[in-house]
Amino acid sequence: MSIHISAAKGEIAETVLLPGDPLRAKWIAEHFLEEAVQYSSVRGMYGYTGKFGGKKISVQGTGMGIPSASIYVHELINDYGAKQLIRIGSAGSYQPFVKVRDIVLAMAASTNSNLNRRIFDHDTYAPAADAELLIKALKIAGKDRIEVRAGNVLTSDTFYDDHPDEYKKWMEYGVLCVEMETAALYTLAARFGVRALAVLTITDHVITGESMEASARETSLRDMIKLALQLA
Ligand code: ADE
Repeated sequence: MSIHISAAKGEIAETVLLPGDPLRAKWIAEHFLEEAVQYSSVRGMYGYTGKFGGKKISVQGTGMGIPSASIYVHELINDYGAKQLIRIGSAGSYQPFVKVRDIVLAMAASTNSNLNRRIFDHDTYAPAADAELLIKALKIAGKDRIEVRAGNVLTSDTFYDDHPDEYKKWMEYGVLCVEMETAALYTLAARFGVRALAVLTITDHVITGESMEASARETSLRDMIKLALQLA
């Protein structure tokens, strides 16, 4: 076992879906995977391995924010040999044309975190998706008629901001939406030579204040999860 995951070697698949919410990991395992077995419940951060279309696949909750997600991503790669990490998460729209329920593929992740300053000092590192995974996701979306947008997202260290206009500078530079984990996922994937992509469902709109009703969440999430599972 690693420090935060209680699986034995070989119990976690090379492809891992990463929802922030551990209960979503449970829900995905129960509704989408065959022969799903829970391999970890340390700190209530559930992880499961099962099969989808005959292929072994795992789903691991990461918690919210860069520090929590980084721990799980680091251990999945370095202690369990994960090779393909697909974040499935929620995001808040930063653009009038990106609507609640839309799906965004994070081509790159800007950030207000100091994560990469600690490594690169005054230089700027651009955390980016794996190009092959991104292209594959676009093709699957086209085939299944799932509408998606690909672009830059913001990985924020805060959910609640003191400045209501904070989003504007990102909006003006074409950032599609805000979430809290992808820049770390892409940075760690690059550092350790594995593939990563974040698939995000827009659950709220930062400009209009609109948010998705709880009842609509499940159906909206299904498209994102189906897309992510086919990527495996
Ligand atoms: N995830 C979903 N909505 C978000 C928001 N508005 N800010 C940060 N993360 C989010």
